[in-house]
Amino acid sequence: MTERISLTRYLVEQQRVHGRIPPQLRLLVEVVARACKRISFAVNKGDLGDVMGTAGTENVQGEVQKKLDIIANEVLIEANEWGGHLAAMASEEMDGIYVVPNRFPQGEYLLMFDPLDGSSNIDVNVSIGTIFSVLHKHHDDPTTDEPVTEADFLQPGHQQVAAGYCIYGPQTTLVLTVGDGVAMFTLDREQGSFVLTRENIRIPEDTKEFAINMSNMRHWDAPVRRYIDECLQGKEGPRGKDFNMRWIASMVADVHRILMRGGIFMYPWDKREPNKPGKLRLMYEANPMGWLVEQAGGAATNGRQRILDIQPAQLHERVSVILGSKNEVDRVTSYHSGI
Ligand code: AHG
Ligand code: MN
Ligand code: MN
Repeated sequence: MTERISLTRYLVEQQRVHGRIPPQLRLLVEVVARACKRISFAVNKGDLGDVMGTAGTENVQGEVQKKLDIIANEVLIEANEWGGHLAAMASEEMDGIYVVPNRFPQGEYLLMFDPLDGSSNIDVNVSIGTIFSVLHKHHDDPTTDEPVTEADFLQPGHQQVAAGYCIYGPQTTLVLTVGDGVAMFTLDREQGSFVLTRENIRIPEDTKEFAINMSNMRHWDAPVRRYIDECLQGKEGPRGKDFNMRWIASMVADVHRILMRGGIFMYPWDKREPNKPGKLRLMYEANPMGWLVEQAGGAATNGRQRILDIQPAQLHERVSVILGSKNEVDRVTSYHSGI
């Protein structure tokens, strides 16, 4: 019988053999995984549970909240607040940071999440997910006892200590990095545990597949137009090959496909709301996905700069995102230089 390695064992071995993750961080990842398991079961219920449709509220970014956005947010908070591993959390669905209440011990980590990514796909039974990112509080001065504030969260993505996502699709899979490559775990529903199913995931450097919402084409700026235009010309154009297109409208699902078989994903700045740097959020979406993609040999930029080097100015900051197969991301990024 082939040996099955559970998420728990994988994390214990990362700690014991590779000395990579301290016990508090191991507990944190396990608790997040447990929360994702609960969200997965809620998602699966669909119309049989009270989980579909809108909640009748808006989040701080003015987006209509779905019931599942709120359920997933609550599940993640409830699961994470009592373990002693966290100082505070921040979420796409909460205005400010959530400091661990006084009745629980405070840990040394900060957790950020997009509790439910791809909300527009909930009601149509298309893959959705949860994205998370972990930082050390007081990264610059680990010895200080200062209370945690929003400013502690404003660290560039290269300071992440763990990041991942869980995708609720035909299978529920958790994809994780603690800075030692990317591993994937599949939820075994009979056993109730995540089992290691792929290790050292690598994104091919070249690809013939792009993902972008083409309906925004007329609003893009010149470099993105040029890149997509060249792809669309196929064999007869400057690229000399035909391209394929996918757009699931769940970043988790689009990024998952790219981790499995390569591709480029773009949600660039566009002229619809010129003052916003992009649609996607730096702390909950771009940073964790950017690190996963880099850990798998891909690249992630905003067209001008590596995503992980951006110094955030605010918690809910948005950003232009170009990520995936390295040679394609480098090409789009090079089209941006000089303008
Ligand atoms: P969320 O559901 O967390 O708000 O994120 C949705 C994001 C992302 O998952 C996806 O790539 C993108 O929005 C889709 O946007 P469009 O509907 O504009 O294509
Ligand atoms: Mn999202
Ligand atoms: Mn969301």
